[in-house]
This record gives sequence, structure tokens and C-alpha cells, in this order.
Amino acid sequence: MSTGFHAGQDPNPPTGIEAAAATDRIDAFLAAENPSTPCVVIDLQIVSAYYRALCALFPATSIYYAVKANPAPEVIATLAALGASFDLASNGEIARCRGMGLPATRCSFGNTIKREADIARARADGIDLFAFDSPTELEKLARAAPGARVFCRMLVGAHGAQWPLSRKFGCDRQTAAELLLRASRLGLRPVGVSFHVGSQQTEPQRWSIAIAHAAEILRRCSREGVTLDLLNLGGGLPAHYRMPVPELSCYAEAIETALSREFGGARPQILLEPGRYLVGDAGLLRATVLLIAERPYHDQERWVYLDAGRYNGLPETLNERIAYRLRTPRHGGACGRVVLAGPTCDSTDIIYEKTRYELPLALGIGDPVDFLSAGAYTASYASVEFNGFPPIRTYCI
Ligand SMILES: Cc1ncc(COP(=O)(O)O)c(C=O)c1O
Repeated sequence: MSTGFHAGQDPNPPTGIEAAAATDRIDAFLAAENPSTPCVVIDLQIVSAYYRALCALFPATSIYYAVKANPAPEVIATLAALGASFDLASNGEIARCRGMGLPATRCSFGNTIKREADIARARADGIDLFAFDSPTELEKLARAAPGARVFCRMLVGAHGAQWPLSRKFGCDRQTAAELLLRASRLGLRPVGVSFHVGSQQTEPQRWSIAIAHAAEILRRCSREGVTLDLLNLGGGLPAHYRMPVPELSCYAEAIETALSREFGGARPQILLEPGRYLVGDAGLLRATVLLIAERPYHDQERWVYLDAGRYNGLPETLNERIAYRLRTPRHGGACGRVVLAGPTCDSTDIIYEKTRYELPLALGIGDPVDFLSAGAYTASYASVEFNGFPPIRTYCI
């Protein structure tokens, strides 16, 4: 990290691949360009390094980058050049990737909630891999994409995930097996099972349980004459926020052990759909202090208002789930507790109130506040123009 900056409370420096290199390059960019804030800056070298680290720890695994985490064309192009495939949530994401020259064979339409016309459009464009998790979605696929390869998303618990994705998605094991068998009768090609253990998953063993459950589905379908040869392990690999997370190798080990236990040498094709892991640590969100006010609500509270907030760049601070590492200038002086809030006229636009953050007392209006490891689910989530604030800008370097 550059000198002259003070890390926020309980910093948890990334382990494994050093994200410090990202910060140096990003700092040089910020110093040279002084871009208007709020903005996100992505270091593409770190995206590449993290992709390579993933490939090394997960050999013989197909990596489908979850574009929703950060759809910047430069990020897509960087990963495409390294050989990645892509998990896409909508025709918009499909159009972006296809428009950049990516072959349809490297695209998966992974959203389980699709418009039938959108399925037909994707199919006409050559997409041949689709997710579903309900009978009605399966019927849509049979009508709009006959003959396509389909996989069923299985429901799994999200314990240990800081950003859970359960309940809204996935069906139980029995239903999954029945739907996959039915897919075959409907003229589709059922290929396998997927799950998502929840985003920013801090417990590698979650994959172990899910793999055992998915293997049950594969075995049941096989007994009934339908061979499935794909297992999609979803996303969930973490970035480095304030709460410590295990090393990537711990995830690889838990997954490898579970795959060996369940499949021995007869493994299905394994897919991973990382989003947050690939771009989180590669990015920084720079905000500026707009206002500092002492508010006598409970105790005397120091409120620091930024030009980024819940509705422009920091939606994952909802319920204070994702606690970013912060850094500010004015290093070396005394610090005090703050409530951090965004710029809109909406009282839900509070970033951190319960989570304890301490910032330098000398921090002033106009000073930058940097959210570290903020390359995922920040710019892509920004509202179009809530309160007249434009979408947050991304710079890729
Ligand atoms: C189907 C699917 N795959 C992959 C991901 C990426 O997850 P993560 O960012 O936790 O790696 C998501 C995230 O919402 C998803 O919905």
C-alpha cells in the first residue's frame, strides 16, 4: 500500500496473492489522473493473476466467469484471452460477450429465471447451455430451445456465506432428479447439476456437503438410464474484506477431497463460476467526503457522508453484510468512531452504523475514502440515476 494512507480498523491484508501490487498500480493511476469520484478502478493484472491461481489450484476445471460481478468489457476481454468461459444472467450480458467476439460455446445462460423469448433469442444465437430449477422453466426451455443442454440448480444451505443466495433459487434433490429425467423426455439434453453455496462463502466444507448431494442426483439419474456428466460448483469463492477468510488452497482441498470421495476416477466435467473472487481484490472504490457532522442521537455520533453509498456503488453494505477494508489519508493522528453514510436523501442510505469503523479525526471534507477489494458487485450494481447521481464510473488499468 502507498504511504500516507491509514488502513481502516481490523485490516485483513490479503494472503496468498498479494493485492498490494494492485494498490500500487491503482495508486499511480489515481495520483496521475485524479478522476472524479465516486469511481471504481480495476487492475487487470490482478484479474489475470487470480485467474491463473485458480486454474493452477483447480486443474481440469472449466472456469465460467460470472459476468454480473463486474461486466466491464476490459475485464471480459482479459479473461477471454486467458481462455475463460462465461456465466451469463441475461440477453444483455450475452450480447456484450458475443459482441466482443466470444464464441457461443463459451457461454452459459446461468440464470434460472428467464423470459421465454430471451431463451429463444439466446438459442438462435448459438447458446447451448441453460440453467433451470423449476418445472415451468424447464417447459419454457423445451419450447424455446429444443435439443439444448440443460442443468438443474439444486438448493443448498448458505451457512457461512456473507452474501447468501439460497431460497430464491434451487430445488430439492428429489425434484432435481425428476426434472432432469423429465428434461430428457421433453427433448432436451440433461447434462448435470449446479449449486451455489452463497457468495463470499467463508466455510470451504460447504462445497463438500453440496457435492455429496449433487452426486446423489447424478447416481439416481444414472440408475434410471440418464447419464449426467457435468457438475457446476457455482461461485462463492471469497474476496478479502475485513473478516478473515481461508486461503484459496483450503477451498481447493475441500473440493478435491469431496470429488474424489464421490466420483473416484469417474468424474463428471467440473465447472466453477467465480465472480467475486476474480475481480473483488482487483478493484478499489474511491469516494470523497462530502460532509462531516456531529449528531447527538444516542451518544455524540460523528457522521461522515460520502459521495458513494448504498445506491451508488456500495449495495453490498445492505444489512452491513460486506464490511470493506477502508483507507483514508491523514495517517498517524488520533482516530474516532464514525457512522458512514451515502449522499442520497434516503435514510436507508447508511453504509455502516453498527459495524465499528474508526477514521482519523483530522479527516476533512474533500478527502478521499478508499474501499479496498471493491472490484465486485459495486459499479455493476449502481442505480441508473437515483437522486440524480449518475452511475459510478469504472476505469480499468
Ligand atoms: C449462477 C451464479 N453463478 C455464479 C455467481 C457468482 O458468485 P460469486 O460472486 O460468489 O463467485 C452468481 C452470483 O450471484 C450466480 O448467481
